[in-house]
Amino acid sequence: MTTVSRAAKFAERTARLRASTIREMLKVTQQPDVISFGGGLPAPELFPTAGIAEAARRVMELRGAAALQYSVTEGLSEMRRWVAERMTRRTGRIFEAEDVTIVNGSQQGLDLVGKIFLDPGDHVVMENPSYLGAIQAFDAYQARYLTIDTDEDGAIPESLERVLDRADPFPKFVYLVPNFQNPTGRTLARERRERIVRICERYDLPIVEDDPYGELRFEGADLPSLVSYESSAPILYSGTGSKIMSPGMRVAWLVIRDEEIREKIVLSKQGADLHSGTFAQYVFHEYVSDGAAFDAHVATIARTYRRRRDVMAAALNHIASDGLHFVPPSGGMFLWVTVSGIDTTELLRVSAEQKVVFVPGVSFYPARDVHDGMRLNFSNASEEMIRVGIERLGHAISTFKR
Ligand SMILES: Cc1ncc(COP(=O)(O)O)c(C=O)c1O
Repeated sequence: MTTVSRAAKFAERTARLRASTIREMLKVTQQPDVISFGGGLPAPELFPTAGIAEAARRVMELRGAAALQYSVTEGLSEMRRWVAERMTRRTGRIFEAEDVTIVNGSQQGLDLVGKIFLDPGDHVVMENPSYLGAIQAFDAYQARYLTIDTDEDGAIPESLERVLDRADPFPKFVYLVPNFQNPTGRTLARERRERIVRICERYDLPIVEDDPYGELRFEGADLPSLVSYESSAPILYSGTGSKIMSPGMRVAWLVIRDEEIREKIVLSKQGADLHSGTFAQYVFHEYVSDGAAFDAHVATIARTYRRRRDVMAAALNHIASDGLHFVPPSGGMFLWVTVSGIDTTELLRVSAEQKVVFVPGVSFYPARDVHDGMRLNFSNASEEMIRVGIERLGHAISTFKR
């Protein structure tokens, strides 16, 4: 009897779905003796558990059944107002609650962006390397990628111009992570920001500005968001509570001034999940409504991560290895290390034996053609664990080179 592969029944778009290296690795790293610099996990001891418990109690007391009921797709009006006010404060540009759609994690925002813009074979422009989860989200819509060259100051505007001049078909949007990028930790230089906005404006090309880490700045002044510039081309801003509060609550937001795009996003979201969790939104809003306390909470996270970054950078400086290169980031959760001549996917096998793991850089390149990078997360492990982990990594590198 011949068996027909079940794969034949799946939609074509599933053919490109691959298990994410990161998610797969998160499974491996559940063992307690493995030190993981792999996932992008916040420090769990900084989650405001008592504050959230109290907020949840108050929500049940004040809102009762409404907090457990269906609600509107756009999100709770309280949450939308809070996001609009915070965006206005951070960008100096006025945003209204109507501009805001609450989404189920910014990952859902990326999926919805893919859903409304991408037909099979369409081009998306992104930094090289770029956030793996964005590649995964757009892969599901059978996107193809055009990449912008980057340096320590982020995406290079001239490279973007070259890409756009040659693009065929012309891309649907540019996806950028301007602050403390995942995976490189790099920040797009101030002078490049407006240039990139103007280039996209010239081509009437939408920008998707993904900014989960902007509030986790360790030093220096905030730089203007891309969305803070007036532009005739749409700029879609994606923000999230994941890194400043809790990723498990899945409360995030898309801020879009263009009404037509916003409507498409809302309709797509309706088809996906009707709306984001009512209870989580109410609790989130209740917790952040004490603005001073919330700002203090975010400042504590940034201070803690700054120390962890310093510890990781100092430990890396102790690794005597030729060709090891890194620039400590000024914020966020990731430190990008390159070791010239080394394939870090191979290195991972050795380092996993030494009980330390990271994400090989190749996953973040849409063409999967650069092998010497690795992404190290410094937010999740304690300072002591970071010291031990980097020492193990040093051993792994020297064993691997031998
Ligand atoms: C650049 C970037 N965008 C989006 C996300 C997804 O975040 P969320 O938890 O809001 O879905 C992440 C998570 O690591 C990220 O690094």
